[in-house]
Amino acid sequence: MTEAAAHSLNCHPPELAIIVPTYNEAGSVEELARLVATTLEGVAWELIFVDDDSPDGTAERARALSRQDPRIRVIRRVGRRGLSSACIEGMLATSAPYLAVMDGDLQHDETLLPQMLRVIKEDDLEVVVGSRYVAGGGVGDWSARRQSMSRLATRIGQRLIRVELQDPMSGFFMVRASVIHACVHQLTGVGFKILLDIFSAAERPLRFRELPFTFRQRHAGSSKLDNAVLWEYLLMLTQKTIGPLIPVRFIAFSIIGGLGVFVHLAVLWPMLQWLGSGAFLLSQSAATLVAMTSNFFLNNTLTYRDMRLRGVQLLWGWLSFVATCSVGALANVGIANYLFQEGHSGWLLSALAGILVGAVWNYAVTAVYTWRR
Ligand code: GDD
Ligand code: MN
Repeated sequence: MTEAAAHSLNCHPPELAIIVPTYNEAGSVEELARLVATTLEGVAWELIFVDDDSPDGTAERARALSRQDPRIRVIRRVGRRGLSSACIEGMLATSAPYLAVMDGDLQHDETLLPQMLRVIKEDDLEVVVGSRYVAGGGVGDWSARRQSMSRLATRIGQRLIRVELQDPMSGFFMVRASVIHACVHQLTGVGFKILLDIFSAAERPLRFRELPFTFRQRHAGSSKLDNAVLWEYLLMLTQKTIGPLIPVRFIAFSIIGGLGVFVHLAVLWPMLQWLGSGAFLLSQSAATLVAMTSNFFLNNTLTYRDMRLRGVQLLWGWLSFVATCSVGALANVGIANYLFQEGHSGWLLSALAGILVGAVWNYAVTAVYTWRR
């Protein structure tokens, strides 16, 4: 252990915790730790890697660092995925009054940290954002597609939180721990946009400032920001808009259920053409099974992306999904039929009531048995 490390360990509780979410960043953790230690000379810091059980051994590499310098800590999460939720978990795992969140691939300029710390303290701010979109900042050499996606997401984000934040999508910022503790129950923890989540969870407008930095090239490995991240962003926005009344997963589940109708018809119709209407029962059964299966896989990759089933788990997941939805379909038909036959309601209302009961049943039961075993 270096003298500086021993000194800060024995004499000072950390003033600043740097939270670094990682997924497959084994090639970068050592360099990141070295850079942080250099730039924060004289500050009582701790560095917390929150790793989602990366297959490339990121957590092990980080633990090896921690054995040399106990200011470095590692949280290894198993069975969960998600950038925002990892950041939240890291932020809640420290006693430091100031928290920084920074990517693990060296794209964020760590030399900004001392200035962020000074500004947040001296100017009595609550959040300081490393910003690509204020004068002096930049995105480096991004593709045109990524630039326009980022601009679009930024604009939507600005409307959502109604503050003059130029870079609400930034993943690089410093915040007072008290802010997080005050709003932690309002955080959705969904997706990539932790900063946006914090701003919209806070009860009143936060005092903030943006400091420019230039987004660097990735040090090693590859980005995890893909199209599904866009979907998660939409989920988070939906959750923010409709509030806690309806779980956002239920909405996603229902949208996918609606798509299932098209899948169903896309199987049923050609089968009837080929086999004739004598094969209706067979065709309808096949179409139902195909639609259930496609719904299962869509829900597994989209609705339950953060607890995605893989390998043999997929088989059990699929079986429980099909079993649950079969019961749901029976309930749907039974209830609709009852309402209609008894003359309680017309065909449309009866059908919708059946669909609603079936959907809620399917959602509730698969949430417990398929994805949360
Ligand atoms: N624990 C954990 N779990 N970490 C994750 C996960 C996850 O599921 N997904 C990504 N990370 C980590 C990565 O290992 C990296 O350290 C950091 O989060 C950012 O992920 P990247 O995959 O490098 O994202 P990016 O560079 O494309 O996106 C960055 O820029 C965006 C702005 O355009 C991030 O800073 C985003 O937060 C930011 O919005
Ligand atoms: Mn990155």
